[in-house]
Amino acid sequence: MKKVLVLNGPNLNMLGVREPGVYGTSSLPVIIQSLTEIAEGLSVELESFQSNHEGDIIDKIHEAFGTKDGILINPGAFTHYSYAIRDALAAVQLPTIEVHLSNIHKREEFRHHSVIAPVVIGQICGLGPQGYELGLRALLPHMQG
Ligand code: DQA
Repeated sequence: MKKVLVLNGPNLNMLGVREPGVYGTSSLPVIIQSLTEIAEGLSVELESFQSNHEGDIIDKIHEAFGTKDGILINPGAFTHYSYAIRDALAAVQLPTIEVHLSNIHKREEFRHHSVIAPVVIGQICGLGPQGYELGLRALLPHMQG
């Protein structure tokens, strides 16, 4: 069974309440529950982690080294400036997909740039919660064995 770490960064614990016109009305637990059911059908075991703290996310990425087969990450605002999260992903070398609920390219200028994008397989944005499912499916062929 493949093991995938699903990471969500700052403010994503507020989904459902936070700017529903931008991020939709689904809460993070609802999104993760539905993703977990999809993962089961794909013989993938998910571990989900959300944190508002950069160091906690980095620690979780390090823990994934040797214990997980892939990472799905929505780094929230860290997307745009966390060289430390980028370096952690580059260090562990696990197949990773970056997900954003909103289309970051349609929004404020500061959201157009992702410092994470150069170290991941690909980025999915603007498709709401479905992006997590698409990201998980996209990871499958990249996971070893
Ligand atoms: C986000 C986009 C980021 O710009 C923002 O800071 C978030 C959420 C998204 O899922 O659309 O927190 O990653």
